Formats: sequence, C-alpha cells, structure tokens
Amino acid sequence: MTARIINGRAIADAMQEEMQEETHQLVDKKKFPPGLAVILVGENPASQVYVRMKRKACEKIGIYAKQILLSGAIKEEELKDVIRQLNNDNKIHAILVQLPLPEHINARSVIETIDVRKDVDGLHSVNLGNLLLGIPKFIPCTPLGIMELFKREKIELKGKRAVVVGRSNMVGKPMAILMMHNHATVTICHTRTVDLPSVTREADIIIAAAGKAYMITGDMIKDQAVVIDVGTNRLEGKLVGDVDFKAVSQKASFITPVPGGVGPMTVTMLLANTIKAYKEQVK
Ligand code: GUN
Repeated sequence: MTARIINGRAIADAMQEEMQEETHQLVDKKKFPPGLAVILVGENPASQVYVRMKRKACEKIGIYAKQILLSGAIKEEELKDVIRQLNNDNKIHAILVQLPLPEHINARSVIETIDVRKDVDGLHSVNLGNLLLGIPKFIPCTPLGIMELFKREKIELKGKRAVVVGRSNMVGKPMAILMMHNHATVTICHTRTVDLPSVTREADIIIAAAGKAYMITGDMIKDQAVVIDVGTNRLEGKLVGDVDFKAVSQKASFITPVPGGVGPMTVTMLLANTIKAYKEQVK
C-alpha cells in the first residue's frame, strides 16, 4: 500500500480563492483593504524567500502588504520603534516579524512589542497563553494550517496517539496543544529524547518538525500512520522535508509532500489571520 498524498498546494489555492472573494467584499464595504506589515531584518536568504511568498499571496487575494526591510545591524530598540509605529498605524491590521532575528536582538522581547490584536503569527505570550487555556484568538500559522489539513482530509484525532518531533514555540508546542484539545494523546519528542524510534513507532499521527533532513525513516513509523512533514531543509540547493518520503510513503496512510504540503497552508493561514484581525479592528 502507498499513502494518500495530501495536496496542501491545492487545498491552499482553494482556500485563497474563497479569501479573495471575501477581501473583495470587505473592500467594497469598508473602502480599504486589510493591511499586513512584514518586517525582515537582515539578509537571510531563506527568510527573503518566505517574505516574498507571503507578499505575493497577499497581493493575489487583495491584502495590502507592506514590506519593511531593515539592516541586520539595527538596534533592538529601533526595531521596537518600527513595531510601535505599526501598532498605531490604522492601515495596518496585522504585523509579522520574520524569524530568526540576528543574535544581538532578543526575539521574545521584540514579539512582546507587537499589539496582541495585530499578532497574526500568534507568538505573543498572550496569544500563546490563550491557546494553552483553550480560548485562542490567533494561533500560529503552521499548526493552524495542519489542523485545517486534518479537517479537510477527515483525519480524526480523537483517541489517537500523536507524536510531535520538535518543541519550538512556533510549531511543536502549539501543535501539541491543538491536538490535545482535539482529544489526541500527545507526546512531544526533541533532541534529548532517548530512543526516538521506539516512541514514533507507537504513533498514529506523526508531526515531523525537527528541522533535520530525512530524519524520519521508514523503520520509525507504524503501518498506516499519518505523517505530516513540516521540514524545510535546503540540501544541495533542493528543498527537502524532515521525512524520508520515498520509504515512509510505502507504509503511511497519509503523507504531506515537501514542497507542496504544509508550506502553502502556513502562508494561507497567515492570510486568514490577517482577515480575522481586520474584521476585529474595523467594525
Ligand atoms: N520563520 C519561519 N517560519 C516563520 C513563520 O511562520 N513566522 C515567522 N514570523 N517567522 C518564520
């Protein structure tokens, strides 16, 4: 048996078409579009690619995207001043600071500067805290996109054993919380986990978000597992996931490809969160 390949690109395109319709209606009614500010500090090539994709997706569906490119040598306080200005800008309803930031900047402190109502990445402590409490406002885009894939592919979480590999604030932790709230039994694994394969082999659902190319191999999964690959690793100029797709797709029931799986959904959820922020700010 080979796995069903979840076409994130097609699902994202369908959702974006619906959102385009919605933004057109909103612009008709309110006379101005939702506005997203994307801040990029420095010249990380991968970040430049992500920011360009986000801007293009905004333009496609009628969201005003303001791109703010700042020197990698910027002082933390100057960056926070830029964010404070955007917090007070009524054309901007959503703010995203592309991560990672240069090492001399405290990313946590910068994120806390974003107005909670404009924090469409869902990374502010108030948004992460509300997610933990089960009263979410803005949920980080990648886990939110994966939940949408589960819904559209009718993948049930209730009673399932889910294993998340990776414990980042942006993916691993919020993903685990969301699946727990949907009644899965969740285990989080990380770099210090002893005997990772023995844990992943118990999983009905695996979320691979470790940032290590091809680390989830065929022998690490059980038959008919659902495998979601969040990896975006560059290997010899190619984008590859955290999952050995060829081997794992022979055993899994569902699998997401890289590219064309989770990535397009992350961008789409950013658009969804931006429209949500606009609707809450513009009455
Ligand atoms: N860097 C990689 N992915 C993301 C993301 O979803 N949001 C932000 N802010 N930075 C990222």
